[in-house]
Amino acid sequence: MKFFVDTAEIDEIKDLADSGLLDGVTTNPSLIAKSGRDFKEVILEICKIVDGPVSAEVASTDYETMQKEADNIAGWAENIAVKVPLTEAGLKVCKNLSDNGTMVNVTLCFSTGQAILAAKAGAAFISPFVGRLDDISQDGLQLISDIVRIYDNYPDFHTEVLVASIRNPMHIIDSAKMGAHVMTAPPKVIKQLYKHPLTESGLAAFVKDWAETGQSIL
Ligand code: G3P
Repeated sequence: MKFFVDTAEIDEIKDLADSGLLDGVTTNPSLIAKSGRDFKEVILEICKIVDGPVSAEVASTDYETMQKEADNIAGWAENIAVKVPLTEAGLKVCKNLSDNGTMVNVTLCFSTGQAILAAKAGAAFISPFVGRLDDISQDGLQLISDIVRIYDNYPDFHTEVLVASIRNPMHIIDSAKMGAHVMTAPPKVIKQLYKHPLTESGLAAFVKDWAETGQSIL
C-alpha cells in the first residue's frame, strides 16, 4: 500500500519524508487555505521534497476554466497529479489530461458509479472519502471494498484506489485488508500507526535492564 500524506504543511511533509515511508502528497483548496501560503509556491516546494505524486487541485467548476487551470498546474512539475472534482466537467478534463499522459486524481468520490466513470476517464487515482461518508452514517469502508472489487473485474482499468478523508488508523488497516492501492491521511493518523502500549512498556523494560548490565554497544 502506498502512503500519501494529506497536508500542505512543509515541516510535516519533511518530517514524514525523512522516515522513508512517504510515497506522495495530497492537498486540496482547504489545506492550501489553512497553510496561508501561495498555491504554486507551496506545491513547487512539496514537489522538490517528495519524488512521488503530489496532488494539486483545480479551483474552478466550469469546464473551460477548469481545463485552463489544469493545463497550467500540469506544467508545474514532473510529479504533479492534477486533482479534479467528480463532476461532468471534472471528468472531461480528466480524460483530456490522461490522454496526454498527465496523472489525474479524481476527488470527492462518494459512490461506486462515480468510481467507474473516473476509471473510464483514465484517472490515475480515484479518491473516495471514507470519513465524510462515516460522518453521515454511511459505511465509508464498504465503498472502498466495492470499488476495489469492481476495478479488479476489469484489467483495462488502471485507476488506483486512493483512500481519502481518513480519520483513524483502522481506516488505513481495513483499507489495506481490502487491497486499496494508496491511502492519504493527516500526519497525526500516520504517526498513530507506530503506537502500541506494549511496544512502549516493553522498550522501557529493555532500556532499564540494559542499563543494569553496565555495558555499552559503541
Ligand atoms: O484531501 C481530501 C480528503 O482527504 C479530505 O479529508 O478530513 O477533509 O474529509 P477530510
